[in-house]
Amino acid sequence: MIYKDILIIGSGIAGLSFALKIAKERPDLSICILTKKSKTESNTRYAQGGIAVVLDKITDSYQQHIDDTLKSGGGLCNKKIVRMVVKKAAARLKELINWGVEFDKQTSGEFSTGLEGGHSHARILHHKDITGFEIEKKLILQISQYSNITLLDNHFALDIITTESIQNNIHINTCYGAYVLNQQDNSIKIFTSRITLLATGGSGQVYQTTTNPSVATGDGVAIAQRAGAKIKDMQFVQFHPTAFYKINSNPSFLISEAVRGFGAWLVNKNGVRFVLDYDERGELATRDIVSKAIYFELLKSHEDNVYLDCRHLDMKEFKKHFPSIYNHCKKNGIDLYKDQIPVAPAAHYQCGGISINAKAQTSIVNLYACGECSHTGLHGSNRLASNSLLEAIVFSHEAYLHIFNKIDYVNKVPHLVFKKYPAKKANLSKINNLKKELKALMNLYAGIVKTSEGLILAHKQLLKLDLLIKEKYQNVAPNYEIIELKNLMSVAHLIVNQSFKYINKRKINRNNEIETDINQN
Ligand code: FAD
Ligand code: SIN
Repeated sequence: MIYKDILIIGSGIAGLSFALKIAKERPDLSICILTKKSKTESNTRYAQGGIAVVLDKITDSYQQHIDDTLKSGGGLCNKKIVRMVVKKAAARLKELINWGVEFDKQTSGEFSTGLEGGHSHARILHHKDITGFEIEKKLILQISQYSNITLLDNHFALDIITTESIQNNIHINTCYGAYVLNQQDNSIKIFTSRITLLATGGSGQVYQTTTNPSVATGDGVAIAQRAGAKIKDMQFVQFHPTAFYKINSNPSFLISEAVRGFGAWLVNKNGVRFVLDYDERGELATRDIVSKAIYFELLKSHEDNVYLDCRHLDMKEFKKHFPSIYNHCKKNGIDLYKDQIPVAPAAHYQCGGISINAKAQTSIVNLYACGECSHTGLHGSNRLASNSLLEAIVFSHEAYLHIFNKIDYVNKVPHLVFKKYPAKKANLSKINNLKKELKALMNLYAGIVKTSEGLILAHKQLLKLDLLIKEKYQNVAPNYEIIELKNLMSVAHLIVNQSFKYINKRKINRNNEIETDINQN
């Protein structure tokens, strides 16, 4: 058993920025960051477009960023949270810069800002088209300077440790750390802590086509749900309109929305621009609209992809802004001077997640969450481009402030009875097929356009898969692949169940039966 004052699960922008703040202000505290693969592997690492911040208050304003966020979120954002995030953006950006993160500048010395879908103003700060790589690299470098932080690669959190009690007739669930699979020797380690932060990122891997790396399997959401935490709005999965189309690639390489902000057109196989038929903002409408436009265009044409046409753009400038995209296309035989880029939508971002308040507290005592695994109310039904890195740093800061003030009053870890995991080894031969089946059914029935009929089919097939998985993997020793599959199944159920409620005004009850929502009668 290992004790740390603070346990952080996840080494993306949310977990790392939180760790840096608390480690600096409280050198007396022991802090541990666990990450399931290598420390740099995360959604953060692949972020391209950048981070939305209002810096120029003459032609832009907080109000415009707020309005853009609200409009993108389909009227379902929490207005207070939107205002808070937009207003705190510049202060958090300054901290990133102080940690050494470099953002592109113009020759005048001012920041170069890009435009993305749904933004009424060019306000996206970026580091070429590898903003996330730059952030991840610099934060990891900073982390290495703190002797009170331990960062452990290949440590896969399985579950959190909780105790239940009744106080004043209220049922209280308190978190005291996590059970963790050490992948180097397959042992289970128990990490106890006074405070635990889930910063486990997204769940794009529940779909067949996604921009998210293999680690994005929704573990934090599944772990929190198993422990009884409130999970919200998982029905709102954002599909990015322009992932590079290549059969069987997982993840799909992203062609940043900033490329459309730079002037690229989306065209069908006949070379005709079509998004204007769906929204007057054309290629720079919000992602939900552009992805749906592509979806319907592909239904009509029976093709697998549309194209991004960059041939009319200044290629010298393009290469300067988007070197990694240019090189990826080149490697795949696409010469941007004369060829169009094949693109199709791919699952990109989890707008819902573990429900947290403005201080990043979950419904479980001493369990916090921030970043993509959390639901703050910022995004509503569709996140505005480049608001995610921003949300992560704003909420990791709020978590830090709250924990900094509270930790001295948090009780020491009590005597705990730990759960025992089974020791029997499982046969893993079928696991990839089960994963494939799950991902395919999510793409088919719970993708960009969801229907009642599709959701009913998805629900039924998920129940069948549940049975198969139980049959094979119940009461076996935890293993990376098995736990990921089980977590993906939990996320899939959440997406389908919460979509039911949203779309059909129906719900799936505790016996897994579909019933009419009482509110609708
Ligand atoms: P992540 O960066 O995903 O980090 C999660 C961490 O948790 C990882 O280290 C992971 O290994 C670890 N982890 C997960 N489960 C476990 C477990 N069970 N045990 C231990 N560790 C675990 N957003 C923007 O705002 N601007 C952009 O330009 C942008 N571009 C994007 C481009 C791509 C290709 C992708 C995929 C996303 C992009 N996003 C962008 C979204 C944004 O990158 C993410 O939402 C954000 O980086 C999430 O940060 P995070 O710290 O919450 O999670
Ligand atoms: C992109 O560069 O298109 C991704 C931006 C985002 O996900 O916010």
